[in-house]
Amino acid sequence: MTDLERTLVQRARAARARAHAPYSRYRVGAALASSDGRVFEGVNVENASYGATVCAERVALWSAVAAGARRFAALAVATPGDDPAPPCGLCLQVLGEFCDDLPILLAASD
Ligand code: THU
Repeated sequence: MTDLERTLVQRARAARARAHAPYSRYRVGAALASSDGRVFEGVNVENASYGATVCAERVALWSAVAAGARRFAALAVATPGDDPAPPCGLCLQVLGEFCDDLPILLAASD
């Protein structure tokens, strides 16, 4: 792994603690590096109206876009337990709006 990839995995894992996941109890963290060297973190934010729940990946991306970033270098996603999980279809669609060839690192929780 590169230094950047290691940093992203560490930050995605640390972010999990800040997830708001009282319904699923499935805490996800994401860390997205922009091409200009910034890192944006995201966590899943659930809602009692479950359709309003947003995944960690989209929170990271929207935070980055809101801060003016438009080009991205890599994304790390940390999910619970031993089995890393890929982003859902909606997140891939949203990422695809901004990223052509984005490396995605899938990390277990530790
Ligand atoms: N979730 C994410 O944040 N990212 C993923 O890649 C998969 C799913 C969230 C959505 C929901 O809050 C919980 O995990 C269970 O699906």
